[in-house]
Order: sequence, then C-alpha cells, then structure tokens
Amino acid sequence: MNVRTALQHAVAQLETARVPSHGLAAELLLQHALERDRAWIYGHPEEEVTESAAEYFFRMVEKRAGGTPTQYLTGKQEFWGIEFSVGPGVLIPRPETEHVVEVALERLKPKRQPQKSDLSLRRERVGRTLRIVDVGTGSACLAVALAREVPQARLWATEISRAALAIAWHNAVRYDLEDRIDFFEASLLTPFLIGGEAENAAPFDLIVSNPPYVALSEFEDLPRELREHEPREALLAGETGLEFYRPLIRQAEKVLAPAGALVLEVGSGQAPEVRALLGLGWCDISVTNDLAGVQRVVSAVRE
Ligand SMILES: C[S@@+](CC[C@H](N)C(=O)[O-])C[C@H]1O[C@@H](n2cnc3c(N)ncnc32)[C@H](O)[C@@H]1O
Repeated sequence: MNVRTALQHAVAQLETARVPSHGLAAELLLQHALERDRAWIYGHPEEEVTESAAEYFFRMVEKRAGGTPTQYLTGKQEFWGIEFSVGPGVLIPRPETEHVVEVALERLKPKRQPQKSDLSLRRERVGRTLRIVDVGTGSACLAVALAREVPQARLWATEISRAALAIAWHNAVRYDLEDRIDFFEASLLTPFLIGGEAENAAPFDLIVSNPPYVALSEFEDLPRELREHEPREALLAGETGLEFYRPLIRQAEKVLAPAGALVLEVGSGQAPEVRALLGLGWCDISVTNDLAGVQRVVSAVRE
C-alpha cells in the first residue's frame, strides 16, 4: 500500500465514523506513523508504506474512529507556538486558553504612564523576580508558555491529578524549565496559604488559571471525545460550573501582592457571574473575548 492509498482509506474510515475534521485527523495520524511532516506526505504519494507502519497507522485510525482524540494517539498538541506532550489523564490544551497567556502578559507590561502601583515597573526597579502561579496546571501549558515569555519569572503550579502532574513535569523538563517551575499536588492555592507547605512563596504578582468549568447538566452535551476520553476532574465544576471560582478568588485575595493580577479562563456565558464574584478589593476588572467572540477571560487587579 502506498502513502496516497493509506491516506484515502483512513479518510474514508474516519468520515464514515463521523469524526470531526476527519481529513486532518487522518493526515496527522499518518504523519505520526511515518514520522514525516505534511509536505513529505503530499510530496511522496507513491512511496510504499511498510507493513509495520501501516499496521500501526490503521490501529490508530480505528481508535480515532472509536472516539479517542487524535492528540492522545500522537501524544502531542501545539500551544503558544510550541509542542506539548499530552496523554490520557491530562486535558488537551485548547487554542482559546492562549488568550489567558495574552491577557497575563498584558497585565505584566509596564503602562505607558506608570503609576505608583505599577507592578512590573516596581519589580524592575528593585530587581525582583516576578512570582507567578498556575492553578490546575494540567499539561503545564500556561506555566511553560509564561515561563518562556517572562524569563525573570519564577513559577509555582498546583494540580490535584497525579497523572496530569507527571505530564506537566515532563513538559517543564522538555523546555528546560524544571528549575523555574515548582509543582504541587494540591488543591487550588492551598500550599501558599498561611500554614501551607509553601507559604513563603507568596505574595504573588500574577495568578492564572483555567479551572474546570463545565456544569453537571451540560456534561452530556459535550462532544464524545471530551466526554469519554478527557479527564472528568479537568472538566466538571458542580451543578453550575462555577464551583471553583469562588474559593479560587477568595484564596487569591490572600496570596496576591497589592497590584498583583488574577487572570481566569471562563466558560461561555460565565463571565458576568465570575465578574460579580470579584467583590470589593479588586479593580481594573476586564473581560476578553476569544476569536469566536465568546467572553473567555476575566482578569482583575488586587487593590
Ligand atoms: C480545564 S483543566 C486546565 C488544564 C491546563 N491548565 C490547560 O489550560 O490546558 C483544569 C485542571 O485543573 C485540575 N484541577 C481540578 N480540580 C483542582 C483543584 N481543586 N486544585 C488544583 N487543580 C485542580 C484538573 O485536574 C485539570 O488538570
């Protein structure tokens, strides 16, 4: 069997199984099985596929047809321009989460007309390291992206899933960041509260989080790939989907430095409620839309 025929068979099989973006999925799996890029696949349609590569490829195609996400089969996903290792047990990083990085970087920038409270400027002046926390780090996509963008930052990341933490650590090592990011198997910001194992890490300049935000009632409406294959603890957030925001905000109030920023990803329609949870003690609250026009990131500054 040659490359063209292998691809055609896979596309047909995935289309019959109603796999979304079936052409792209077939291409990505073939690239992975042959360890070749897209240009090579299209430049060598007549090349014979070895028996073992074909067997591996069609085994993956079958799993994809059965609902396993492509990224769990190839073991990778791009986020913020770099490749992250992923696997069952960790949420696959989503493009909309890149807006969390964008907003966080914006919050760290010195303003054109600096005010006394301007955080990064103060830090620059006194030559101090920026201190950043990522809550519910998953694959560590946010922590790694921020660490690479802000070389003077020191980072901490929390996560309750041991499987996710193993992948997060792997991604930190992959980008040589294991000395700059400390991982904790812990809930929300608890390690940094008074009496916590890392209470001295606080106060922080920036807290980012993409917490679970799917309401129980919405779970059944999720695409099969998500519902059956991605970790439930990465998705579900009680009856309303808002379960994590209140304790996260209350804890953030205790560990953020004055003028420190909180940047939260939210689910569709949740921005007004999350905004309302930011009561007294927060200023400069803003909501950022994603590329689909959905209000996706709520951010605010601690007074
Ligand atoms: C929506 S996923 C986000 C993962 C990653 N930050 C991303 O953006 O791709 C939420 C993550 O929070 C973790 N999580 C759930 N409850 C948590 C808790 N109480 N404390 C810390 N992490 C938690 C889940 O295991 C999951 O990895």
